[in-house]
Amino acid sequence: MSSPEELYLLYRGLLFPKETHSLESLKFAQEFTFRDDDVVAVVYPKSGTVWMQEILPLVLNGGDLTPIHTIPNWDRVPWLEEKRLEVVVDKLTSPRAMVSHLPYHLMPPSFLTSKAKAIHVMRNPKDAMVSSYYFHQMAGFLPDPGTFDEFMDSFLEGKVMFGKWTDHVKSWKHSALGDRIMDITYEEMVQDLPAALRKISNFLGRDLSEETIQKIAEHCSFKTMKDNRMSNFSLVPKMYLDNDKSPFLRKGVVGDWKNHFSSEQMAKFTSVIHKELENESFTLPWSLD
Ligand code: A3P
Repeated sequence: MSSPEELYLLYRGLLFPKETHSLESLKFAQEFTFRDDDVVAVVYPKSGTVWMQEILPLVLNGGDLTPIHTIPNWDRVPWLEEKRLEVVVDKLTSPRAMVSHLPYHLMPPSFLTSKAKAIHVMRNPKDAMVSSYYFHQMAGFLPDPGTFDEFMDSFLEGKVMFGKWTDHVKSWKHSALGDRIMDITYEEMVQDLPAALRKISNFLGRDLSEETIQKIAEHCSFKTMKDNRMSNFSLVPKMYLDNDKSPFLRKGVVGDWKNHFSSEQMAKFTSVIHKELENESFTLPWSLD
């Protein structure tokens, strides 16, 4: 088993999995030229990134299913910071969609000066942590998570890929992008996907018919995505992502943390997050209890 030191790259205080990131890919991201009609979903890991890779092309192209049926999610809506971007960038057609786990302060200068839009997707950190715990079991390029209790400590201390959840949220909440950024939660997407799609399409200036919204919702449902080999990571060799250990599209629900946290863990987690956000001007969209 490889150690965290062997598996992670440390760049500007954050851990990046070496399998998918390199100093070159991070430099490529820094020098990337954003176009005004680009859109990037900025998401802390395990909070709905792959879901946005399904949603964005369909909203942008008016519901044409071709991209989600012919292009694997990582090439269809690539990660800004990953090695793969350099390989596929020339194949992307405008309006381009990307995803990123970067905090705001690591976004490239061209993003800040462009008119590109950002969609900030937030998920209750307890559920993101549970999802991440299982992801570490299926991902051969991440360290073993240890016990749930040990993993919680790593998560709260930010000794996980892309650092602390609270730092990520703070960075995007203070982005000052004005009307170029929209917040949405994983929870509102689960609760009413058509409503979430209307909100996203309005933000992106797309006027989609109700029929198209319903069609996109159907194709972006958990069940349909779980069966879509272009989105469920079944195309990736098992040594990297082993869906038999834990499927990537695992449960897709809100509140699974209640099946995992003891009352002591719940109290500790809530108190650490509240303490780190106590002086912030924003409030979280959900109660952590
Ligand atoms: P769970 O492990 O809780 O099931 P990311 O893409 O950021 O890595 O996030 C992965 C999480 O998003 C997983 O959560 C996955 O099941 C969930 N997810 C992906 N597509 C979804 C969908 N269509 N509906 C609900 N959840 C979805």
